[in-house]
Amino acid sequence: MSRIPEVIVVVGAQWGDEGKGKEVDYQAETADLVIRANGGANAGHTVENHLGKFAMHLIPVGILNPDADNLIGNGVGLSLTASLKEHADLKKRGVSTERLYISSKAQLTFPYHQTIDGLQEERRDTSKIGTTGTGNGPTYMDKAERSGIRAGVLRDRKRAMDLLHEVLKGKTALYYPNGGAPDTFNPEYYEKLIREACEVFGEKVINPTPFLAIHFSKGSRILVEGAHGALLDIDNGTYPFVTSSSCTVGGVLNAAEIPPSLLTSAIGVFKAFSTRVGEGPFVTELDDDSAEELRKKGDEYGTTTGRPRRIGWFDAVASRYSQQINHFNHVVISKLDTLIGISPQLCDEYALGNTVLRDFPSDSETLAKCIPVYREGNYFPKLEGDISGMQHWNDLPENVQRYAIALVRSIGDNFQSITIGTGSRREDRITFK
Ligand code: IMP
Ligand code: MG
Repeated sequence: MSRIPEVIVVVGAQWGDEGKGKEVDYQAETADLVIRANGGANAGHTVENHLGKFAMHLIPVGILNPDADNLIGNGVGLSLTASLKEHADLKKRGVSTERLYISSKAQLTFPYHQTIDGLQEERRDTSKIGTTGTGNGPTYMDKAERSGIRAGVLRDRKRAMDLLHEVLKGKTALYYPNGGAPDTFNPEYYEKLIREACEVFGEKVINPTPFLAIHFSKGSRILVEGAHGALLDIDNGTYPFVTSSSCTVGGVLNAAEIPPSLLTSAIGVFKAFSTRVGEGPFVTELDDDSAEELRKKGDEYGTTTGRPRRIGWFDAVASRYSQQINHFNHVVISKLDTLIGISPQLCDEYALGNTVLRDFPSDSETLAKCIPVYREGNYFPKLEGDISGMQHWNDLPENVQRYAIALVRSIGDNFQSITIGTGSRREDRITFK
């Protein structure tokens, strides 16, 4: 008789950078398999545990658990340059990558995708997205256009080079019809990269279906690691200011090739305040001293690009929407410790002209016209006391408890567990059910 697997999904509930890395690392400690589901080198999260501090981009965080298998899933845009570097860095630090596998269905991202990403941003006038410049959008364009090159070719160097020749011929005609194409459009540019990628990753490429079937029948504990955040999801996010992959619970399950009926737990990670990188409406954005203070205290700079993140108060309207589309049954409130010394505010409604909105608008034009409403009960006195590393709810100062409760209630109820982050280390957390 086969056993029933346990499937845990961790998704960022806002615009990315909620501190998913820490949650994934915590969950990965007891996982049998960790699957990175979506996104590419544009994603980045920082993990801090007994092995040290790691900035991860493409390789599943479960690689830090020697007892877990790790799969780069179908929905990933696998940048070969970034993943080879990450792989080498991990090995240099003594982390075994023996149990890393790559789905043959994952899309490959090449330096020409990066060139195109740059060209597109340059050409956008009023509608710049502020992409990470990692070639992510153009990778998923190719995927949807059905001209993408998938990881399966890393088993066959000649086939990989043939496909590159074919694809680059088409791209050169499209982007540089009058000549002047950069090196990244020249197939020869890829000889060394392909050789190295085939050498390092060729053996790791697998058909994910039988591999997953074994884990399903063994009753494995499977962790699906979402990248970015639900509000950057291509279908449900603040379009067009979104990334190009699926970032919601449903989206990452599909991207990881996990049937939805196997889902056990959907964990949503919400940061205790808001941040956003790149362009797009951000109703609760702050531009005063408290933004700079929070940015410094929370080290709110991009893991991938180093860009300073935009900062705002917790946005319950956006968060309720995120809850609506993901239906998390577990929530994690990260970085509560960053708010110590600050008087936070919580936005529970928007004003749009003379109307009050409790529902998140479905388009970015309307969202951009919304003004945050902070009701009297949603101005909090300065949060005081040193909570860093605390592990028990009763130890938290009352004013911190009050803010945490208000924040969780503003998202929804009926959560099976609530976890509060009190520091950057794996164990800096308080969970109650
Ligand atoms: P792209 O994913 O590089 O195409 O960027 C599209 C938008 O998503 C930009 O506004 C980026 O700043 C944002 N974005 C992409 N990945 C992340 C992430 O991991 N954290 C935060 N923002 C991201
Ligand atoms: Mg990040």
